[in-house]
Amino acid sequence: MVKLVVNGQEKTVDVDPSTPILWAVREQLKLTGTKFGCGIAQCGACTVHLNGEPIRSCSTPIAAAEGGEITTIEGVAGEDGTLHAVQAAWIEQQVPQCGYCQSGQIMTAVALLRDTPDPTDEDIDAAMSGNICRCGAYGRIRAAIKSAAKA
Ligand code: FES
Ligand code: FES
Repeated sequence: MVKLVVNGQEKTVDVDPSTPILWAVREQLKLTGTKFGCGIAQCGACTVHLNGEPIRSCSTPIAAAEGGEITTIEGVAGEDGTLHAVQAAWIEQQVPQCGYCQSGQIMTAVALLRDTPDPTDEDIDAAMSGNICRCGAYGRIRAAIKSAAKA
């Protein structure tokens, strides 16, 4: 049993402590917005926040989140459903193509803008370089981050 807070709610997950956060979130908590891509911490599709910092949930055991707080893509919007500025900008810029990488991209972008509210192109490239998009939506991702920064 691992106790933690997920998207603001206390949860207990009954899994082996070595289980990756990704599978605890997807299979135990049914939060399927977080995606499995490579499984070896190389693509960023599985990015969630652990205690506010973006992590690779495919390669981080749920034990690391014991007593901590996870935020997934399902917890980014406000409690009343108001989209986060990054989510709104993603829609405005029509960023996704297939969409598979996008929850991870958004989680990384949310953390970037929290820490660097007015990022340069270099800041964006540095922060986002670990999030792979096989559809090549990088130009729209950058435009959306800049749009969210203005908002
Ligand atoms: S699925 Fe975790 S980094 Fe690729
Ligand atoms: S939108 Fe298809 S992989 Fe990024």
